[in-house]
Amino acid sequence: MSEKPVINYGLEGVYVDESSISKVDGQNGKLWYRGYSIEDLANRSNFEEVSYLLLNGKLPSKKEYSEFTKKLKERGDLPEEVKDTIRVMAPTAHPMDIMRTAASMLVMFDKDPSNRDGDTTMDKVITLIAKLPTIAAATGRFREKKSYIPPDTTLGHSANFLYMLTGKKPNDFESKLIDLMFILHAEHSTNASTFSVLVTASTLADVYAATTTGIGTLKGPLHGGADEAALSMMNAIGDPNNTEKYIEEALEGKQRIMGFGHRVYKTYDPRAKLVRSYLEESLTKEPSDEVKRLLQIVLRAEKMMTDKLGKTKGIWPNIDFFAGPLYRVMGIDAHLFTPIFVASRMSGWGAHIVEYWHNNKIVRPLEWYTGPVDVPYVPIDER
Ligand code: ACO
Repeated sequence: MSEKPVINYGLEGVYVDESSISKVDGQNGKLWYRGYSIEDLANRSNFEEVSYLLLNGKLPSKKEYSEFTKKLKERGDLPEEVKDTIRVMAPTAHPMDIMRTAASMLVMFDKDPSNRDGDTTMDKVITLIAKLPTIAAATGRFREKKSYIPPDTTLGHSANFLYMLTGKKPNDFESKLIDLMFILHAEHSTNASTFSVLVTASTLADVYAATTTGIGTLKGPLHGGADEAALSMMNAIGDPNNTEKYIEEALEGKQRIMGFGHRVYKTYDPRAKLVRSYLEESLTKEPSDEVKRLLQIVLRAEKMMTDKLGKTKGIWPNIDFFAGPLYRVMGIDAHLFTPIFVASRMSGWGAHIVEYWHNNKIVRPLEWYTGPVDVPYVPIDER
């Protein structure tokens, strides 16, 4: 029998490809999209420009920007069949399950979904970027038995999402906050969902199939679902004075504290720092009692966790720890946090599909078999 090979559980430390889309420096807490620092993009750019950058490898000229945003605006509305499905699922299904089903349905409206020629892949990706926020917003509306609001083409991409969800045009600060979240969630190298998108794409299945895979993967609380799970933990803590006791007991019970730790960042996640700073800024804008309470919990939990596990084990806050409270500043329901993550991450997933298909190779790793061989078959009546 041959010798057992080294197994990298969870593919930890394994390089699977080269990519020029984003770089995550986990030791120094830095992130670049196509070479641009996340701080610069978050503070000075917008989601449409960032999406163009991720997909095309360069910032757009004015003409390119206007053509790109025109396509996003023209394609934001949903077919009746998709709206009907969301309406049927809304009372009982989790919004991530609705997102997965509705995104998958979009293949029905593409006359040539398997076509990977020339710019067609990019075109399909743009359609998905345009429609996924509308799916998330319609889900939020139908859960509350409210009517569908079609896109308002006078608004920016992420501000339009808030409008379709609430029926109110967001103010400048709210528009900045939602755009920040869209930018920060747009891309993050070969994380679990992006990798799963590429596994599906590597079989030459279509863009819709790959996206549906990514949505399924993002749902889990160890990945994108941590934003909703972290807020749920904060609500379980309830009173800020209960923070330290709650965390102490959770750690003693070997529970994970949601929104902390990361496979690559062994220091503070730079996206978390940005969300934290905007969360603090929201305190100057007359926040609700709920947001004030959440912020107290967040700061106390952050101090305790970083004192206890930061320097010793490299467990620091990730973006999902602060995301929930910032979404609550905008009044967004916790069930919609991860669908918003999907709507933003579509740009990164799309960029990776386009890049991978330039040099496609089916993903097919190995596993070390530990079972028996040549077991004699016994017919069912003789067992
Ligand atoms: N709370 C408490 N302990 C933790 C946490 C946490 N959040 N995260 C890691 N640890 C501990 C583990 O118990 C383990 O301790 P041990 O060595 O004593 O057994 C050690 O740190 C290493 O943990 P692993 O699970 O091996 O680290 P891995 O890289 O596989 O997991 C992950 C990374 C999944 C993100 C993990 O840190 C975690 O579960 N965090 C909570 C969920 C979360 O916030 N996910 C969002 C990540 S960001 C994103 O996806 C957008």
